Amino acid sequence: MKDKPFKVACLSGAGISQESGVATFRGAGGLWEGHKVEDVATPQAFEKDPVFVWRFYEERRRQGKNCKPNKAHIGIAKLQEKLGVENLSIATQNVDGLHQKAGAKNVLELHGSLWKVRCLKCFKERESYEEFKTLPPKCECGGILRPSVVWFYEPLPYDILEEAFLKAKESDLYLVIGTSGVVEPAASLPKVAKSNGAKVWEINPDETTITPICDKSWRSKAGDAIDEVVNEILKIREGIE
Ligand code: OAD
Repeated sequence: MKDKPFKVACLSGAGISQESGVATFRGAGGLWEGHKVEDVATPQAFEKDPVFVWRFYEERRRQGKNCKPNKAHIGIAKLQEKLGVENLSIATQNVDGLHQKAGAKNVLELHGSLWKVRCLKCFKERESYEEFKTLPPKCECGGILRPSVVWFYEPLPYDILEEAFLKAKESDLYLVIGTSGVVEPAASLPKVAKSNGAKVWEINPDETTITPICDKSWRSKAGDAIDEVVNEILKIREGIE
């Protein structure tokens, strides 16, 4: 028996939500839901035309409300319940909130959330699920609200990123699900885990930039592989503890 518990950390990307009907980023000819990212997901785009950008995000929010977590989100949430939140940490690049809808706790949202807004004047952030009647929506202080997501050219929330790196360093197994691994700093998390002694596993129908450091890869959709991956993790843990 080991003197410390078996620790798993997980990084998810758009691919984990593909089976819930959320579009990935690098699928359709480089466009995101028909738009160039610089037209809808940069601070410059918001400054130039906040109404246009808000219309885009309102559409994402409308679609997102109808999306349900799939087998992969549910499998990870159940595994977290079994291992304990302190032994399974989840970092995601997704803003859809589907890990939480599946019951996962303490999800580290590296790129923010569709379900939060923040004020450009007083900087307050709050949860938000409503459909706004006028765009851009305003804060009670009178300032303009923006979606609390990370846009291109913006830094990631420091505390969340720091926590994600800490969890990667502490992990015995780092599981990467549905990310192309081309966007930093998230793409470095599995590399940091590996260089601190963790095994790295990947679930992705395609090879990615993470594949070369993986000890094991499942070339399949997240929902198809999740049961097998969860069982293997539980077996390893039983063997150790
Ligand atoms: P990408 O669109 O770059 O990659 C999605 C990955 O999911 C690809 O490697 C696909 O092969 C894989 N995939 C597709 N369907 C899958 C399925 N059913 N199961 C498992 N994997 C599947 O999305 P991300 O890697 O998440 O950032 O992109 C990272 C960041 O780039 C995003 O968070 C976003 C974007 O620019 C910001 O908005 C800041």
